[in-house]
Amino acid sequence: MAPPHSGGPDAAAGEAVAAPVDQQQQQRPISSILIIIAMQTEATPLVNKFQLKEDLDAVFPKGAPWVRYYGTYKDLQINLVWPGKDSTLGVDCVGTVSAALVAYAAVQALKPDLIINAGTAGGFKAKGAGVGDVYLISGVAFHDRRIPIPVFDLYGVGSRKPCSTPNIVKDLNLKIGKLSTGDSLDMSPQDEASITANDAAVKDMEGAAVAYVAEMLQVPTIFIKAVTDIVDGDKPTTEEFLKNLAAVTIALDESVTQVVDYIDGKCLCEL
Ligand code: ADE
Repeated sequence: MAPPHSGGPDAAAGEAVAAPVDQQQQQRPISSILIIIAMQTEATPLVNKFQLKEDLDAVFPKGAPWVRYYGTYKDLQINLVWPGKDSTLGVDCVGTVSAALVAYAAVQALKPDLIINAGTAGGFKAKGAGVGDVYLISGVAFHDRRIPIPVFDLYGVGSRKPCSTPNIVKDLNLKIGKLSTGDSLDMSPQDEASITANDAAVKDMEGAAVAYVAEMLQVPTIFIKAVTDIVDGDKPTTEEFLKNLAAVTIALDESVTQVVDYIDGKCLCEL
């Protein structure tokens, strides 16, 4: 049988599947996790919480702005990476390009058992989202890669599933919903139609790009996204995002800590 997303029947049907994980990998205790976060504001509280140290002899190529923190927390080796600041403009390198690059480089260098992509997101009140809600993501896709040619259309949407975590779903009190990813903070009418088609409760600027790399390198991945702004609400997105960023980051980091505590001492098949 063709492996998932190898261009075989699953891919042709556009059906999202999770990155393949072999039996041995499923049953080994998880020892190394990689947390990928886009913004420094989101990363700093977790660096402090897990008492991570900055890696000054970077595992990343010279010149790359990417930043790695590392340490041991309970029985887990934790690496946390963020794409750093744009060297010219000095702002966080948000978006799919930096997310995919840093994910690729970090997985190659660090060989994690599991990736957690954590971050903030816009939420849709029509799907039940409110500011401060934290979502465990049940499916990811892109909403701004429109290629209206058969099969390329499915490639553009790039639907993927996170690794299966039925026990996290059952035992932790997180909302469950789908994530749609694009490179803009705002939402064009075309994006809106794609987000609706993706059945997304939240939208971000990195998730589906991380999922693409994780699938390519066969690393199981989960996505935790906290809502800073309501996309289908009446407040301007940028204002609401900036106003809520610090407070929502606290909620995000509490949930990431809960998930990391849950993972500690378990195998993938127990999640
Ligand atoms: N991150 C936080 N809010 C967002 C939004 N509205 N769109 C994309 N990414 C976000």
